[in-house]
Amino acid sequence: MNTSPATSQRAPWRDILDSHLQQTQGYEFTIATIGYDARNRPVPRLRTCGCRGFFPELELHPKGQEAMDEQVEGGGNPPVFESDMLCFTTDARMEKIPQLESSGNAIEAVFWLKDLMTQWRIKGTAYAIGDPTINVTENEKASREKIMKGLRVKGHNDGDITNWTWDKAVTKYFANHSPVARGSFRNPQPGMPRSQSPGNPALSLGQKVTDLHDHVSRNNFRVVVIYPEEVERLDLTNQEDGRRWKWILGEGGANGSLDVQWNETEVWP
Ligand SMILES: Cc1cc2nc3c(=O)[nH]c(=O)nc-3n(C[C@H](O)[C@H](O)[C@H](O)COP(=O)(O)O)c2cc1C
Repeated sequence: MNTSPATSQRAPWRDILDSHLQQTQGYEFTIATIGYDARNRPVPRLRTCGCRGFFPELELHPKGQEAMDEQVEGGGNPPVFESDMLCFTTDARMEKIPQLESSGNAIEAVFWLKDLMTQWRIKGTAYAIGDPTINVTENEKASREKIMKGLRVKGHNDGDITNWTWDKAVTKYFANHSPVARGSFRNPQPGMPRSQSPGNPALSLGQKVTDLHDHVSRNNFRVVVIYPEEVERLDLTNQEDGRRWKWILGEGGANGSLDVQWNETEVWP
């Protein structure tokens, strides 16, 4: 690691959202990116994705941890970092990745948590990591640098930060998937006509992957990390008195440090 984390305090909305997610059984979010239509007009593109919580903290199921213990040095990274950045996993061959790259990484994520009658919107930029190319590509390097700015060193941790690597961080998200879900990264090219042969014998549906470093699937597997810049919570618990809060990320903290500051405003719903 050649960049230092830049933020020191949790965002004021972070623990509220975290607690809402913990109270919700199984949640997905809708992810919006910007695409371009045939006439080159910018257009919204949305899809459902599984939210994987705040990067890089992830509680693995026992089978996933077993795989990490067997295949990854030290069983994974020491738990030294936390962040306000939600993440999801995806396949590099899907459209959202080039859409992020061609739109200044613009993203919006939205949750509707019906049990809590609350909508959360997270607007910001998003960066994909996990390109396993031996010489880290420019894209991967730029993504890591941006994400690093959003990482915080956790208080009260006894881990050795020098043992932390990006590869182990991404591998943990891969391990979190079942062997069949890992195998989906060996599917034929997403979005291609099914009548068309995959053209590569390694690519087919329904494969099971137990090797966490399986070359073919890791080539396609990515973790997308959302760097939040504006967050909104809409609480409709009381229909007669809907409440809406907005947090906007401000620039820089005291003494010209890179530290960030969130400005909170309650607005009319
Ligand atoms: C419940 C559910 C969960 C999904 N989770 C993910 C996910 O975590 N990551 C992902 O890339 N696609 C996920 N998908 C598939 C996406 O909705 C979408 O079809 C796919 O990402 C291709 O979109 P794109 O080509 O616009 O990138 C999920 C779909 C559903 C219905």
